[in-house]
Amino acid sequence: MVREIVIYPDKRLKEVSQNVECFEEELHTLLDDMYETMIAKNGVGLAAVQVGIHVRALIINIPVEIEGETLQIKENTLEMINPVLIEKDGEREFQEGCLSVPGIYEDVTRCEYVKVEYQDRFGEKQTIEDDDFLAIAMQHEMDHLDGKVFVEKLSYIKRKKFEKEWKKLHP
Ligand code: CO
Repeated sequence: MVREIVIYPDKRLKEVSQNVECFEEELHTLLDDMYETMIAKNGVGLAAVQVGIHVRALIINIPVEIEGETLQIKENTLEMINPVLIEKDGEREFQEGCLSVPGIYEDVTRCEYVKVEYQDRFGEKQTIEDDDFLAIAMQHEMDHLDGKVFVEKLSYIKRKKFEKEWKKLHP
């Protein structure tokens, strides 16, 4: 089921999400709904808080190029529960967008490399590392779990510009 996305500056986006302790049907339904919602809105990542559920769960699906077409393959979906950043290195600027801030794309500085420990939907411990787009996406989505949206990372001047643009888009 496609769920409604919480749009900036809704206060619910600022809440810190709680750890998941039960890896059963309710979580699986939430993850399945998050996937449907993300795909319906053409997103590459979504945190549970963005559908108004404050648990530490996020999904990412990085598009792949196949014969000149950019596609998202369901099996490539990364489901991360209770993710924890355990290693990081470097710095990199990357243009980000967010389903909770539709129509806005801005450069954000993040770590180039991250290693993250998390649990899958069955509660099994997993580790993943990346130094490319996935690394950026994981940091963006993990920020959501702590009540942070990417536009809050912009410099003062860029933030002001964004607020002006946002008011124009959403009067
Ligand atoms: Co986002």
